[in-house]
Amino acid sequence: MSEQSGQELYERIPSRIFDDAQAAVCQIAREIADAIRERQAAGKGLVLGLATGSTPVPLYRELIRMHRKEGLSFAKVTTFNLDEYFGIDARHPESYHRFMREQLFDHVDIPAEQINIPEGMVSREEVFEACQDYENRIREVGGIDIQILGIGRTGHIGFNEPGSGPASRTRLVTLDRLTRLDAARDFQGEHNVPRYAVTMGVGTILDARKVYLLAWGRSKAEVVKAAVEDAPVESLPASFLQQHEDVSFFLDTAAASELTRNKYPWLVGFPEWTPELARKSVTHLSLKLGKPLLKLVDKDYQENGVSELVTEQGPAYGLNIRVFNEVQHTITGWPGGKPDADDTYRPERAKPSLKRVLVLSPEPQDDVLAMAGTLSRLVAHGHEVTVAYLTSGSLGVPDEEARWAADLMREAGGSELATQVLAELDEKSAFDEDSVGLRRFKSYIRRNEARAALQLCGLEPDRIQFLDLPFYENGRYRRFVTGEDDVSELSSLLQSVRPHQVYVTGEAADPSSVQAKSFSVFELAIQKLQSEAWIKDCYVWLYRSDGREWDIHQVEMSVPCSPDEVKRKAQAIYQHRSQRSQIPVLDEEQREVWEQAIDRNRATARFYDKLGLAEYEAIECFVRWHVTQDSAGK
Ligand code: GLP
Repeated sequence: MSEQSGQELYERIPSRIFDDAQAAVCQIAREIADAIRERQAAGKGLVLGLATGSTPVPLYRELIRMHRKEGLSFAKVTTFNLDEYFGIDARHPESYHRFMREQLFDHVDIPAEQINIPEGMVSREEVFEACQDYENRIREVGGIDIQILGIGRTGHIGFNEPGSGPASRTRLVTLDRLTRLDAARDFQGEHNVPRYAVTMGVGTILDARKVYLLAWGRSKAEVVKAAVEDAPVESLPASFLQQHEDVSFFLDTAAASELTRNKYPWLVGFPEWTPELARKSVTHLSLKLGKPLLKLVDKDYQENGVSELVTEQGPAYGLNIRVFNEVQHTITGWPGGKPDADDTYRPERAKPSLKRVLVLSPEPQDDVLAMAGTLSRLVAHGHEVTVAYLTSGSLGVPDEEARWAADLMREAGGSELATQVLAELDEKSAFDEDSVGLRRFKSYIRRNEARAALQLCGLEPDRIQFLDLPFYENGRYRRFVTGEDDVSELSSLLQSVRPHQVYVTGEAADPSSVQAKSFSVFELAIQKLQSEAWIKDCYVWLYRSDGREWDIHQVEMSVPCSPDEVKRKAQAIYQHRSQRSQIPVLDEEQREVWEQAIDRNRATARFYDKLGLAEYEAIECFVRWHVTQDSAGK
């Protein structure tokens, strides 16, 4: 079986994988530019189908750059956008009309009359006709040449939610709960997110001559895998793209991580059996068969597609013991290193026995979600722990919470800021962004929550820093742009703490997220400090706060939590009251954030138990990031 045919066996849509989103969009932008120029040379125009969401933003930036620097003209380009929220005015900050103007159209030479976006403000009575008219307009210009798509976590393309068939056309649709939850931050609360949208149908999309779907970050990995490898189903509309003759997926490594060629490379070819891959394959086999590591036999390997590994590195028992020991050695109750102990097989160094530890949390709550137990231990073991919140998190505070706090302050005697806040909230319309004062007030709410949470972890308030990085203060969700001022603030903090250990997150997150932006600022800050002596003695530990834990084979430090520590962790997360669901969750399926975090840590502990290691109540996991490498490479 050649590598190519093995891959094709699984992948029903050609997928191109790039190191990062930027490399992918440069390629797509070049292809679009070539197509525009080719048509232009023949005196013709090109019809582009465009998407919204954070995914295509870097593509639009690249096209704008090409327009400015390379003379790429959009004068003969006609565009059709996929969708628009229903009942949302074009001036609304979250309307796709406004999004497209701000992200692309205002910066290139496209004539206004060549721009087409479904209308969100038509009445229910008129909407059917408006949709028909949209379809006619596409037909009249000769159809879409290149369609750009993102993908929602429900597997939607445009707003074709699960249940949309391959023959569906432009129409009014009801938005899925998960889609509305994903948009909740942009709209400051789920209850503000529109319930309906107008979208091109799956059939409309399939009519385009060429389709490019873009996806970045780990949060898209499962849905990408299902669309590319599983049979097409209405519950995952993107899977119908398999029917298209000229479709390609452009993915970054994180979004491609669930594809069989990456997840189980031994099933598509003959991989190089590095220790990490062997660990992955053996732990996977153990969990799949429900057999502890030390009970696996040669036959198990042979019957499950990994006979090559056992032939090369077997017999099974030796391989089992090696992996068992590797996993066992990741477990430590001493995340800061165990003083005076032999540290040959421990994740952290014994010396210095008391370390300077810096925990970087992109927004308040990332820290406790992932590592409240570890944090408490570090404090209890006497290390000099500093927690720094990189951004204020003010955008994540719903107006209702601000009103609650401001009302309380007014009743208790009032303050000028509280009075201003209440006046602003009374007048605020759906179009208005928060004033600087309201954002400041909201950031105080998050500061207080963060202090209360960390107090439960034993940390004194003077060990907490709030950096309020400018990229966040000056930005909006999904549209943050980081700069030199962010990097220099973080590098000054690093330089002043000179930590032996740093905990940080965001390396594989959606590139537009606060976590990913924060991580990129961290990478640049570290680069800047590369020549400092303390950096050579600094261990960087990556944690995950986004609800997606590391795979067992990747983990390099596992910190168990006792039942009491788990309770305290739940309590600590619970202090972030502005981040709890604003509507009581009565649905058993829908777990609150703090419950999800605990579930995850308990699930990790169960994995270790199933592998035949000790049975703990819960486990928090970390992976080491090497200061000299460009990215985690995991
Ligand atoms: C919205 C849009 C889709 C987009 C999806 C993913 O639902 N209607 O076209 O693909 O969001 O958004 P993001 O790119 O921000 O992940």
